[in-house]
Amino acid sequence: MKLKIAKLPGDGIGPEVVEQAVKAVDAVAKKFGHEVEYTFGYVGACAIDRTGSAFPEETFKVCMDADAVLFGAVGDPKYDNDPTAKVRPETGLLAMRKQLGLFSNLRPVETFKSLVHKSPLKEELVDGADFLCVRELTGGMYFGEKGRRDNGDTAFDTNLYHRFEVERILKQAYEFARLRRKHLTVVDKANVLESSRLWRQVAQEMAPQYPDVTTDFMYVDNAAMKLITGPKFFDVLVTENTFGDILTDEASCVSGSMGLLASASLGEHTGVFEPIHGSYPQAAGKNIANPLATILSAAMMFEYAFGLMEEGKAIRKAVADSIDAEYVTEDLANGGKAYSTSEVGDWVANRIAEC
Ligand code: IPM
Ligand code: MN
Repeated sequence: MKLKIAKLPGDGIGPEVVEQAVKAVDAVAKKFGHEVEYTFGYVGACAIDRTGSAFPEETFKVCMDADAVLFGAVGDPKYDNDPTAKVRPETGLLAMRKQLGLFSNLRPVETFKSLVHKSPLKEELVDGADFLCVRELTGGMYFGEKGRRDNGDTAFDTNLYHRFEVERILKQAYEFARLRRKHLTVVDKANVLESSRLWRQVAQEMAPQYPDVTTDFMYVDNAAMKLITGPKFFDVLVTENTFGDILTDEASCVSGSMGLLASASLGEHTGVFEPIHGSYPQAAGKNIANPLATILSAAMMFEYAFGLMEEGKAIRKAVADSIDAEYVTEDLANGGKAYSTSEVGDWVANRIAEC
């Protein structure tokens, strides 16, 4: 198969980790006889520096023209403490999500046996936890009307949801639940927020169409607690944009390191595959960041964008083997040797080739 992949490494550790994922992609493509063509685009702070825009038109075209986007991270500390900055690296990511219609963000959380001790939570609570967070990605407060009044002394962000937005994300969550353990938890704040009441109403209307799936509802404050007191409760968790942002960072603690959490953003146009850890500027250029989340995102790309399940599995297996062999970066090294970003990338690529 011919695979056209747009590389958008972005900022911070993005370029280093994307480079390792590319090694894994090349190894798996060679093994299974696929031909990969890469294109490239700037996004985030590096795009602002070059073009003044965080998601230039040219990068949008590169994305639209590809079968999948392999994305690193955006963000630069120089923008973090300047609330008056007109353009911000993060607006590039939001523009990309909106323009590509990426309404569904899948963030799987799984545990690796040899790493459960790395979780700040008790081993017996996290051992075996395996769930999928489905975060709505193009609605809610992120994109609702926002602004200032009263000479800037009053500020607002509107948490706006349309029925069709809720329906399409719930449909997807139900379909994933069907492929898994058939348990869907809809997370909202329906005791307070009108937008959440719409979510709950739509979910209640849709539930009878999925009689094989158990649907339950949980308030977001309670879900935040349940994620750390009993993460094994969850199979598929679906929620709105802002709640999903917060809960998935929290959920990453379950697997032991944020450096392991991959994600896929799917929707109307090209899908985007990226680690959830962000740009980690303190580590940029040091060759120490964990590339496994990006490599696992590449596995998701094979599965979700290309429908190539065996290829995805081969990447996952090599990642699991690197963890078992303790050939890992410093965040996962358990008192043992810590390998560099590129050493781990090479190891995983070689492993894919060998197996
Ligand atoms: C994420 C990130 C983004 C978000 C930022 C960088 C805009 O935190 O992908 O979770 O808030 O969605
Ligand atoms: Mn986030």
